Amino acid sequence: MSLFRENIDRIGGYVPGEQPQEGGWVKLNTNENPYPASPRVFEAIREAASERLKLYPDPLSTRFRQIAGELFGVDADWVLPANGSDENLTIILRSFIDSGDLVLSPYPSYILYETLVDIQDGRHQRLQLNADWSWDFDACQEQVDESKLVLVPNPNSPSGNQWRIEEVAALIPPRGIFVLDEAYGDFPDEPHSGSIFSQPGGERVIVTRSLSKSYSLAGIRMGFAVAHPDLITGMRKVKDSYNCDTLALAAATAALEDQQWMQDNAARIRATRANLVATLIELGFEVVPSQANFVWATHSQREHREIFEALKARKILVRYMTYPDVAYQSEPRTGLRITIGTDEQIEVLSAALREIV
Ligand SMILES: Cc1ncc(COP(=O)(O)O)c(C=O)c1O
Repeated sequence: MSLFRENIDRIGGYVPGEQPQEGGWVKLNTNENPYPASPRVFEAIREAASERLKLYPDPLSTRFRQIAGELFGVDADWVLPANGSDENLTIILRSFIDSGDLVLSPYPSYILYETLVDIQDGRHQRLQLNADWSWDFDACQEQVDESKLVLVPNPNSPSGNQWRIEEVAALIPPRGIFVLDEAYGDFPDEPHSGSIFSQPGGERVIVTRSLSKSYSLAGIRMGFAVAHPDLITGMRKVKDSYNCDTLALAAATAALEDQQWMQDNAARIRATRANLVATLIELGFEVVPSQANFVWATHSQREHREIFEALKARKILVRYMTYPDVAYQSEPRTGLRITIGTDEQIEVLSAALREIV
C-alpha cells in the first residue's frame, strides 16, 4: 500500500532537460546563456563567501527587492525573490490552488505547470493554441471564465513567439489569478509597449522573471515575482523562510546592478539568433519567429528524432520535443528546440546540420 497522497502516486513527475556533467558537449538544450555572468557577480560571491555564511540570510532579500523593483518601476513590496522562477511557480500554486480548482495553461508550452497543478490536486486544462501558435480566444473564453489560475509564458516555450500584452490580457480570469511567466522576457527585439498591470484585472496579475537565462545564472537559482503587494504578502507566507541563500542573493543583486552586461549579451544572442534562423531556413527548416534565446525548428522531410540523435552522436545537444495532444492534427506535434549559443557553437551546429539534413 502506498503512503503517498493519491495524486502524487498518479503523476510521473516533471523530467528536466538533460544536464551532462562531463565536458565536450555543445549544449543547446536547456536555454542557458552561453556567455558568463558579469564580473561583478563573481566579485560579489567572493565577498559574500565569508564568515557571514554562518548566519542566516536576509529573509526578506531587502536589497535585491529594491533593485528588482526599480527595474520594474515598482516599490520593493511588489517583489518576491525565489530559488529560481520555478520556485515562484510552486509558491503560486501552493498559495492559490485547492483540490479541484481549475488551472489553465497554453498547449504546447511549459509542461512543468501541469505537474505543479497535479501536486496540488488541482484540475488542469489545456488552452489549445492554433497551429501557428496564435490563440483561439473564442474556444478559450469559457475555460478562462471558470478558472482560478491561468499561466502563460511570454515569450512562449518551445515556440519562442511573443504575444502582445493586449492578447495575453484577454486571458486574465474574471475571478482568478493570471501568471505571466517572463523567463525569456529580456530577449525580444522590442520591449513591450505598456504594462500588464494596467490592464483590467491587473491587480490579480503576477509576472515571474528568471535570472537563469538573460543574466547567465542558471546554476545560482534565482528568480523573482512582481505583483500587487496584497498578493506578494500572501505568497510570502507560503515560501520557505530563507528560500534565497546568501551567495545567491549576492550574485543576483550584482547581476541586476550590471544591466549593461546583461543587455550586451542579450544583443549578441539576438544577432546570433538571426544568423541561425537564416541557416535553418536555407537547410529547409521552418522556424517560428523567435523573441527568446532559442528557436523552434521543424522539417517537413526529416524525422526530428533522427536529427536530434545524429546531432547527439556528434556531441551536440538540442531538445527534441513531442506534444501528443494538439487539436489540429491527429499525430503528435514534434520539433527541435535549439538554444542560441555563441557564434562558434552555432557554427558547429550548422556544419553538422548541413551534413545531416
Ligand atoms: C517558461 C519557463 N518558465 C520558467 C522556467 C524556469 O526558470 P528558472 O531557472 O528561473 O527556475 C523555465 C526554464 O526553462 C521556462 O522555460
